Amino acid sequence: MGMSEQDFVPKNIVLIGFMGSGKSTVGRELHQRLGYVLADTDRMIEEAMGKKITEIFKEEGEEAFRDFETLQLLELAKQREERMILSTGGGIVIRAENRALLKRMGYVVWLDAPVDVIIDRTSRNRDRPLLNCEDAGGRVETLLAERREWYREASHLKIDTTGLDSGEIATGILESARYFFTNAG
Ligand code: S3P
Repeated sequence: MGMSEQDFVPKNIVLIGFMGSGKSTVGRELHQRLGYVLADTDRMIEEAMGKKITEIFKEEGEEAFRDFETLQLLELAKQREERMILSTGGGIVIRAENRALLKRMGYVVWLDAPVDVIIDRTSRNRDRPLLNCEDAGGRVETLLAERREWYREASHLKIDTTGLDSGEIATGILESARYFFTNAG
């Protein structure tokens, strides 16, 4: 049987995971190794809106940001011919529409990290509006518990990043991506 339009899976690698799970760093590492275009939904939204994520949340609200996020993803999903590494915002999995879309865009890797590691990494700057609150640690725990199933549903592979550096994570992703693309087209 020939490949139908629906079976087509572009050779993109998509990184999902909670804030501070290392998506941007691992994305850059993959970009360096493969030479694929590197895209980042947060950066694209900031460029399109001409303001920072924190300002978008403050001035337009989270729902508006989520709308931009979905629009951005739809735009990217249309670019079928390009091979890319896509790094996403931690909340991209909240919408079922996005979860389905992500999985059709390529090989989706969920970077998972323990709560304490995430709390430590995200405490170093204040550019994440959802964690700019008194009990940021509690917030991380609540959001992570809420989203875990969504990350699982939206991904093909989960990597527990504990004790691994970005080079090791990238190597793991490339090995399994090769296997995935050999078998999925
Ligand atoms: C968010 C994660 C952020 C950014 C926004 C909301 C979230 O991206 O999209 O602050 O809901 O988890 P990073 O995961 O790159 O920090």
